[in-house]
Amino acid sequence: MTREIIIAPSILAADFARLGEEIAAIDAAGADWIHCDVMDGHFVPNISFGPDIIKAIRPLTKKVFDVHLMIAPVDPYLDAFAKAGADVITIHAEAGPHLDRSLQAIRALGKKAGVSLCPSTPESTIEYLLDRLDLVLVMTVNPGFGGQSFLESQLEKIGRIRGMIGDRSIRLEVDGGVTRDNAAVVAAAGADTLVAGSALFRGKGSDYAGNIAAIRVAAEAARAPKPQQSSAPPRRAGEAVRLR
Ligand code: DX5
Ligand code: ZN
Repeated sequence: MTREIIIAPSILAADFARLGEEIAAIDAAGADWIHCDVMDGHFVPNISFGPDIIKAIRPLTKKVFDVHLMIAPVDPYLDAFAKAGADVITIHAEAGPHLDRSLQAIRALGKKAGVSLCPSTPESTIEYLLDRLDLVLVMTVNPGFGGQSFLESQLEKIGRIRGMIGDRSIRLEVDGGVTRDNAAVVAAAGADTLVAGSALFRGKGSDYAGNIAAIRVAAEAARAPKPQQSSAPPRRAGEAVRLR
C-alpha cells in the first residue's frame, strides 16, 4: 500500500527565541506534521523542552503534533504529553524494559503510538509489537542533536521494516540528517514520513516552503511507479511523456 508522503519539520532547528512565529511560518509553508523532539539529558546527551512548551505552542497550528520522546523513564510522563496536545507519541525501544506496556499506555490515553529505533537497534525488536503500533521511527543519526550526517547503514533496515509492516496501517518515519539530496533514497527504501530539522528551518521564513517542497518532490518522485516497458504502447512521435 502506497501512502502519501508526510513531511514533519523538527522544531528543534527553529529559532527558539521566536518559536511561535517559526511554527506559524512552517505551518504556512506546507508542513504536514510538527515534529517535537523531547530530550532529557539522560537518555540522550542533550536537553530540549518538555510538555509545557508543547502545551504553549499547541494552539498555534492545527497540524498533527508528532512528539518524539528521547527520555528515560518514559512511562511517568506519557500522561503529561498527552494532555499537552500530542497526537502521536513515539518512545524509544531502548528507553525502558516494558515496551509493550508503554505502547498500550499511549493508546489507552487515546493517542497514536510510535516506537523509535536507534541506529544500533535491530528491527527484530518490534517483531512482536506490530499490532500495537501506529508508527515506526527509524533514527538515521544517533539521537540527541540536530544537524548530524545521515547514516546510510539504516537504509537496509528501513527496507526490512517496510516488509514487516506489509498492509498494516503503520507509518514508517525516518529522522536524522534528511535533506533534499537523500530524500529520494529514503522514500525508495520504504519510508513514507520524513522528519527534517536543519534542512527545513534554513534561510528565512519565506524559504521554508521551497525547502519543504524540495524534499517532498524528491521523495514522491522516488516512489512513483516505474513505467512498464513491455506493456506500454509505443509512443508516437511528438506525443508528450506523461509523468506519473
Ligand atoms: C535527533 C532528532 C531529530 C533531529 C532532526 O535526535 O530526533 O529530529 O533533530 O534534525 P536534522 O534534520 O537536523 O538531523
Ligand atoms: Zn526526532
